[in-house]
Amino acid sequence: METLKATMTAKKAEKIVQTLEGYCEAKGVSIKDHGAEVTQKQGNAITVKILQLNKSGYLSDGMLARIVEMLEDSEISSHEAIKLHRRYKIPVSRLEEDVIPVRGDGVWITDIEGRRFMDLDSNYSAANLGYSNHAIARALFNQASQLITMKEDRVQVPRTRLIKTILPILPKGLDQFYWQNSGGEAVDKSLKIAKAYTKQRGVIAMIDGFHGRTHGAVAVTYNPAYREPFGLDNENWVRFVPFNDDAALEEALRQGTEKIVIMELAQGEEAGIRPARREYAKRARELCNEHDALLIVDEVQTGFGRTAMKEGQWWASDYYEIVPDIITIGKSYGGGFPVTSVVTREDISKKMKPGYDGSTFGGNPLAMVAATVAIRQMRNANITRNVAERGPQLIEGLKKIKSPLVQDVRGLGLYIGIDLPSPTHVSMLQEKLKSLGILSSLSTRNTARLLPPTIISKTEVNLLLEKLRTAIASLEKSQVA
Ligand SMILES: Cc1ncc(COP(=O)(O)O)c(C=O)c1O
Repeated sequence: METLKATMTAKKAEKIVQTLEGYCEAKGVSIKDHGAEVTQKQGNAITVKILQLNKSGYLSDGMLARIVEMLEDSEISSHEAIKLHRRYKIPVSRLEEDVIPVRGDGVWITDIEGRRFMDLDSNYSAANLGYSNHAIARALFNQASQLITMKEDRVQVPRTRLIKTILPILPKGLDQFYWQNSGGEAVDKSLKIAKAYTKQRGVIAMIDGFHGRTHGAVAVTYNPAYREPFGLDNENWVRFVPFNDDAALEEALRQGTEKIVIMELAQGEEAGIRPARREYAKRARELCNEHDALLIVDEVQTGFGRTAMKEGQWWASDYYEIVPDIITIGKSYGGGFPVTSVVTREDISKKMKPGYDGSTFGGNPLAMVAATVAIRQMRNANITRNVAERGPQLIEGLKKIKSPLVQDVRGLGLYIGIDLPSPTHVSMLQEKLKSLGILSSLSTRNTARLLPPTIISKTEVNLLLEKLRTAIASLEKSQVA
């Protein structure tokens, strides 16, 4: 019943709890035990009882609505959810048990306990339009009612619509698509396409770059801990060079053993948000031209306006004023529904032949309608302008926080990193923020990453800054080793 107390005064909650206790125990549900499983039937019975209590004036309508929602959500208890996940999940990643989200609304998430959080992660940047979307829901319903799946090879009406919708926002000349379902797959396929074109297998990738977890994508991802367990730490077709270092890239290309370069223009996951220098990005483009190498820019995270500094900058490549040979795109492409693409030029794509690849779900009709609606929404909401305004608002606000703990603030658009003295400081900041109703993104070493949904409003950024100021001030007071 802690949840009840969180939504109303302790006194009121106690009264309700007392009245309900005997009733619930008779029904075999202990409402004192947070981990108790409440079945739908029991939940309904309790709701009816609460309605009766409400008649006696105990509850406001708002509180009643929240209690009903909580009871619905607790059809599966937190206890059961965590227990089954612990028991049955292959532990490829750390299980996050602290918050169990059940619904979303804009930049807000509500968890199974009825707590509300502002989100700073956007589900790894896939929920840029928020965590619920009625227009996408309707489109998916309509499409699934007519044609729920269709293989990549066959002509489709929904895909035709998406092509027409996305073409106007892509970098010039990039208009050949291969649709996939995850960023890692898109990176894998971009490497295959680049290898088919360059007729060689060598790839230059960046130190601290991140490209996903599929076999090919992880092979060009720097962190040795992601590669070593799978024997991918010594691939003779991958060479890592320092990022933002044109001399190192030039030297590697001059040797001529690798004709493909892959990079993020703002390194995220592994580097704690490190944008390229503008001259570096331009020079990398020139160097690839000079050495007949293909430049793949992984825009999976930076795309769809995440890094916009000006209206119209849909891609980090737009900000850097370069046109890569191949881009990979994903994350919020489908407004939260899985869809990704490799996008390239026709002279490159022509080197792929029927039989070189294939996909059952790539470009499926549901993904195509979700992406069409999501892109229309991003365009109508002028998402690039919003990011170009909200990003600097957040960065400037952060820079104004005069604290010895804030060692650096950097970013592009709403792709932001704050350096604190140590990883311990970062986790303490995240815990404090959670207690203030802000759910953080994952961190990189001593960098806290901030990736709020790109629809975040001015008022919400101000609220976020207020919470960040409070959290940092409280961190200053605590003694961290
Ligand atoms: C730059 C970049 N590329 C690729 C990926 C992999 O995407 P996914 O998790 O959809 O496979 C990510 C994921 O965070 C990413 O940041």
